Amino acid sequence: MHSLATAVAVLAACVTSATARNDSLATSDPFYPTPWMTGQGEWSDAYAKATDFVRQLTLLEKVNLTTGVGWEGEQCVGQVGSIPRLGFRSLCMQDSPVGIRDSDYSSVFSSGQSVAATFDRQLFYARGYAMGAEHKAKGVTVQLGPVAGPMGRAPEGGRNWEGFSPDPYLTGIAIAETIKGTQDAGIIACAKHFIGNEQEHFRQVGEANGFGYDITEALSSNIDDVTMHELYLWPFADAVRAGVGSIMCSYNQVNNSYACQNSKMLNNLLKDELGFQGFVMSDWQAQHAGAPSALAGLDMAMPGDTLFNTGDSFWGTNLTLAVLNGTVPEWKIDDMALRIMSAYFKVGLTLDEPPINFDSWTSDTYGPLHAGVGLDYQQVNWHVDVRGDHGDLIREIGARSTVLLKNTNNALPLSKPKFIGVFGGDAGSNILGPNGCSDRGCDNGTLAMAWGSGSANFPYLITPDSALQSQAIADHSRYESVLDNYADSQIEALASAPEITAIVFVNADSGEGYISVDGNEGDRNNLTLWHSGDALIKNISSMCNNTIVVIHSTGPTLVSEWYDSPNVTAILWAGIPGQESGNSITDVLYGKVNPAARTPFTWGKTRESYGTDILYEPNNGKGAPQSDFTEGVFIDYRGFDKSNSTPVYEFGYGLSYTTFNYSNLVIKSANAGNYTASVGKTAFAPVLGNFSTNLADYLFPNGSFRYISEYIYPYLNTTDAKAASGDPSYGQNASEFLPPHATDGFPQPLLAAGGGPGGNPALWDVLYTVNATITNTGPLDGEEVPQLYISLGGPNDPKVLLRGFERLSIDAGESATFTADVLRRDISNWDTVAQNWFISSYPKIAYVGPSSRKFVLSGTLQ
Ligand SMILES: *[C@@H]1O[C@H](CO)[C@@H](O)[C@H](O)[C@H]1NC(C)=O
Ligand SMILES: *[C@@H]1O[C@H](CO)[C@@H](O)[C@H](O)[C@H]1NC(C)=O
Ligand SMILES: *[C@@H]1O[C@H](CO)[C@@H](O)[C@H](O)[C@H]1NC(C)=O
Ligand SMILES: *[C@@H]1O[C@H](CO)[C@@H](O)[C@H](O)[C@H]1NC(C)=O
Ligand SMILES: *[C@@H]1O[C@H](CO)[C@@H](O)[C@H](O)[C@H]1NC(C)=O
Ligand SMILES: *[C@@H]1O[C@H](CO)[C@@H](O)[C@H](O)[C@H]1NC(C)=O
Ligand SMILES: *[C@@H]1O[C@H](CO)[C@@H](O)[C@H](O)[C@H]1NC(C)=O
Ligand SMILES: *[C@@H]1O[C@H](CO)[C@@H](O)[C@H](O)[C@H]1NC(C)=O
Ligand SMILES: *[C@@H]1O[C@H](CO)[C@@H](O)[C@H](O)[C@H]1NC(C)=O
Ligand SMILES: *[C@@H]1O[C@H](CO)[C@@H](O)[C@H](O)[C@H]1NC(C)=O
Ligand SMILES: *[C@@H]1O[C@H](CO)[C@@H](O)[C@H](O)[C@H]1NC(C)=O
Repeated sequence: MHSLATAVAVLAACVTSATARNDSLATSDPFYPTPWMTGQGEWSDAYAKATDFVRQLTLLEKVNLTTGVGWEGEQCVGQVGSIPRLGFRSLCMQDSPVGIRDSDYSSVFSSGQSVAATFDRQLFYARGYAMGAEHKAKGVTVQLGPVAGPMGRAPEGGRNWEGFSPDPYLTGIAIAETIKGTQDAGIIACAKHFIGNEQEHFRQVGEANGFGYDITEALSSNIDDVTMHELYLWPFADAVRAGVGSIMCSYNQVNNSYACQNSKMLNNLLKDELGFQGFVMSDWQAQHAGAPSALAGLDMAMPGDTLFNTGDSFWGTNLTLAVLNGTVPEWKIDDMALRIMSAYFKVGLTLDEPPINFDSWTSDTYGPLHAGVGLDYQQVNWHVDVRGDHGDLIREIGARSTVLLKNTNNALPLSKPKFIGVFGGDAGSNILGPNGCSDRGCDNGTLAMAWGSGSANFPYLITPDSALQSQAIADHSRYESVLDNYADSQIEALASAPEITAIVFVNADSGEGYISVDGNEGDRNNLTLWHSGDALIKNISSMCNNTIVVIHSTGPTLVSEWYDSPNVTAILWAGIPGQESGNSITDVLYGKVNPAARTPFTWGKTRESYGTDILYEPNNGKGAPQSDFTEGVFIDYRGFDKSNSTPVYEFGYGLSYTTFNYSNLVIKSANAGNYTASVGKTAFAPVLGNFSTNLADYLFPNGSFRYISEYIYPYLNTTDAKAASGDPSYGQNASEFLPPHATDGFPQPLLAAGGGPGGNPALWDVLYTVNATITNTGPLDGEEVPQLYISLGGPNDPKVLLRGFERLSIDAGESATFTADVLRRDISNWDTVAQNWFISSYPKIAYVGPSSRKFVLSGTLQ
């Protein structure tokens, strides 16, 4: 048993905080020790089970739970070691947030950004549940999603589509409902990427070097404390409150300290203030140090090797050594194992889960079990069809997430039109096949899935061309499509044909930074349409006075050149809809689904109007590129409001085929109690069991043990610690230090703003209930998304903040009540001095309307 007091060395250089270039803007002060879990709230049963389980484990077995076996070491994109003694199989970590990556007979769902546009809590949940059920049926333990980082600071952000919205309130609700769904299906969700992961450029040094940028450290997102709390941390608080089992720390640095060893972010904000009880896993190769990352709050190293396929690990052998030499206290390795197993039991996983039945590295039935080294050829894919009837749900989400931006001359809904002409490559198939480009790394054919690790393989893809043609034939319409954007004479002939209804499909794609498509290194280079989409629209609409435009995109595009043409009679944003794309858009165009979706981001007139952008060129020599979030909380609509800039389509905007009236605002105070700071101290860090300090007890097993090269193990290969580590600086560097309190397992003070999952429980007190009557005044049954915005009133506050929404189904002529609870957090600001939330004395005004710029009703929160 090791004494907690053993003072030892750590690789300090990388430890903690670092100073931001502009201290007043953004710093990350060291915060130690790392909080140990308490089993609070809904975690108590799982915590008790995990405690019983972890008590039985040896140190080597605990280390096995925390460390991945290396890239391509097993079937999933990440797997930790197993515990054969207890018959416990390895945890399987698998992409992606839209379905199961690198698998077959599974579904491709709509993107997070698309489902956000539904503003529908039930659909957020249903999508999470369906994805969770599919992962579960393949043997996955942790689905690597949902995403709240990026949020969408810059509209060009390559992975914005994987997340939900640049509005933290909408993202918070969407991520929470998704997590509940996923975990109710019996697997662990992983909220990612924590935090400040707002662009692809420079997120990883190796990747950036590959694109020719000469840098030696990853980008630093420099974020001040108010902006962190009121914007980027906000949805993660919802995720924690929803009981998320794991959180992935990101590639980037935050305030010049790597996110996976940033003690301010992981120890202070996530584990202490938000009371996160699950485990933090690294993004793949986002770990940059061994003991320091453990002490700064990391619990699981993914995929386990320092760099892919090196066979070296910051943990594995090194973590065993770090515990044995006292650098990592026993309570910390126990806490890591406890967090992992608590999340595991919390979602209902058992000690004898069925085997993993798919393989990420081959689609063949037979292949090497250890793909990285080509060993153990056997059956690795069982081709289990896990789709169930999820196609129906995907079709529904695709339709109910389609935003009707413009509709004039009763262009829509279509009713047995005489002649339909469909234009644009975005309506058709990728002639290379729906999965023809690896990880969807191209923009050929209709854009139903963007690129990167956040993608999945299509089981089929219904194109708009095929679905619209089927509908046209059923209606006895005439139907022709021209899918080559550059076939000028054919386009002209069709577009100028008499009595034609033209539907033009265009797109703009983006994705993850390891793939460059048409020179876009993840992030978009511009906000215009791809494949000359704007020219195509202008050309067709110059000839046809009933031109309907459908945009598939990963965010806003510039529409200024054509949106107000009288010949462009309708515009729809169909997002990234997934496998049922064609059916979904057909349902909307023909009115089988009356649209109600709202744009989850702002459509600005120009790129500059957003006031934020990607950093495309390094700005700090070879050092970490510095991305200063100087706009603070003013991203997307908050920025447009601040600069008094009129967008083309504002956040929250979207039309219906019917009309609605808003009336009768009622604001009721709920007489909640006062806000009290959490006080007191934690218990001692629990220690579960003893372990030997004799290095001979940790050697590779004798006898029949088969060593697989490149595989990460917890064992030592010699009793000489330095040699076993293979690290020339093992235990030596005189400038190394342990940050103060890093190994301290004594009771720690509670944070004022902490005290429960997601933060101080009183932040979730309902202070007001806002009601309004919504009446369907049009001729059709429909759905409406009334939104509540609140002005906090201070000079540094955004003009308004989204603080409530509901998707209501209201039949023609009927009324429904919109209700929104205003929570304490909804009207609070972050006090950087008190390190707590407070409600300012400025008057608070509530607005209710159908978008962020159309306030029909208003009242004061007394
Ligand atoms: C640091 O940031 C603050 C807040 O944005 C600003 O007022 C100040 O001028 C900046 N200082 C430097 C040295 O850039
Ligand atoms: C650690 O995991 C590996 C891979 O699953 C396994 O071979 C080994 O036996 C495990 N070690 C212990 C001590 O459980
Ligand atoms: C231990 O960590 C160091 C880096 O800190 C690395 O160079 C070495 O390869 C690791 N040892 C093992 C056995 O993975
Ligand atoms: C498919 O996309 C790739 C990459 O964007 C492009 O180079 C290629 O020309 C496209 N192929 C077809 C057939 O459209
Ligand atoms: C914007 O990027 C797309 C995709 O790379 C490209 O096709 C288009 O030409 C670019 N637009 C402008 C104005 O450069
Ligand atoms: C609208 O379409 C008609 C053909 O129907 C064409 O004559 C006219 O020039 C177009 N107007 C615009 C503004 O493009
Ligand atoms: C479009 O043009 C056709 C004939 O060119 C005309 O009959 C029709 O009224 C026009 N529609 C609109 C909405 O202007
Ligand atoms: C809440 O705080 C106010 C002002 O400090 C105090 O007057 C009031 O008694 C407190 N209410 C409760 C229920 O503690
Ligand atoms: C293990 O032992 C051998 C020699 O016994 C040594 O060469 C090697 O570097 C050691 N470390 C690792 C990580 O393999
Ligand atoms: C303890 O082990 C870790 C991991 O191998 C190593 O980095 C560190 O230098 C060791 N410290 C001491 C004092 O031996
Ligand atoms: C608000 O509406 C809900 C749901 O219809 C209702 O239960 C509640 O009483 C209403 N509250 C007020 C203050 O009108």
